[in-house]
Amino acid sequence: MKAIITGANGQLAKDLIENAPKNVKLIPLSKQELDITDMEKLDETLKQASADIVINTAAFVNVDLCESQPEKAFLVNSVGVKNLVEASKRAGAILLQVSTDYVFDGGKLKDKEPYKEEDIPNPINVYGVSKYAGELVVRNYLNKYYIVRVASLYGRAGSKSKGGNFVYTVLNKAKRGEPLKVVNDIYMSPTYAKDAAVKIWELLINRREFGTYHITNSGYCSWYEFAVKILDYAGIKADAIPISHRDFPRKAKIPLWTPLESGKGISTRRWEEALKEFINSL
Ligand SMILES: NC(=O)c1ccc[n+]([C@@H]2O[C@H](COP(=O)([O-])OP(=O)(O)OC[C@H]3O[C@@H](n4cnc5c(N)ncnc54)[C@H](OP(=O)(O)O)[C@@H]3O)[C@@H](O)[C@H]2O)c1
Repeated sequence: MKAIITGANGQLAKDLIENAPKNVKLIPLSKQELDITDMEKLDETLKQASADIVINTAAFVNVDLCESQPEKAFLVNSVGVKNLVEASKRAGAILLQVSTDYVFDGGKLKDKEPYKEEDIPNPINVYGVSKYAGELVVRNYLNKYYIVRVASLYGRAGSKSKGGNFVYTVLNKAKRGEPLKVVNDIYMSPTYAKDAAVKIWELLINRREFGTYHITNSGYCSWYEFAVKILDYAGIKADAIPISHRDFPRKAKIPLWTPLESGKGISTRRWEEALKEFINSL
């Protein structure tokens, strides 16, 4: 199997590369090597590579910046994906598009039920709308595709667009003795990028049925609860202070509830176990 990975310098891409099965011939392409907004280059690259699979991790991920730069958000997260759809179709490759929990509006907070694959998206910020538009193009114009929704990723490389990840931010602030005020009324499924990468490869290797999948560590927590566990596992004595999202205004409207769960039999370990392993690996 030959697989192209776009956005190859990114957080998830690095873990996909590191955890690729031995029988997969990888073609990792950074933004500098392949800009997904460049249709001509995309066509040429995919044709030449004759890859079986294109894994698109490339995205404009910074949620607040997307709000102030909607043109860029839609260019990368929607038009870029449309380009990949066309180029993959012409090259006869399967497209695996990485998407997000932020396609949901958080309305399931009232039932405290995680979102499953069949739940209807209703994004409430520019990032979510631009990613959902990307999903729609894939779903409506391709037969051979996977859409994999991940959430709240942390990995060794840290997110390029976000300048790190939440785990690094908490650890660095605590080490500098800075106050740690963390929102306690936004819930999500923290996900170790390595675990997501391993499950993505399993999906491809096992040739699971085409369609949409949720891949996160299992369980959920608030960002405050996540921060408390990070400090605990790192053995750092520092106090996190719970605050409301109302005390932490952001440019983008953030859905208050986006835990994901797979109704398609993708089983993953608990987020606490994954976090412990990540912190021990640092
Ligand atoms: N991080 C999260 O918490 C999270 C949560 C849910 C879903 N996701 C999804 O997971 C995927 C991976 O996220 P990540 O955390 O690995 O983000 P990341 O570290 O920011 O990686 C994204 C990569 O895409 C590249 N890129 C940006 N514009 C591009 C373009 N036009 N052409 C080609 N490459 C481009 C970036 O390069 P430059 O940095 O050089 O611009 C970066 O290397 C994304 O699809 C994201 O939407 C992430």
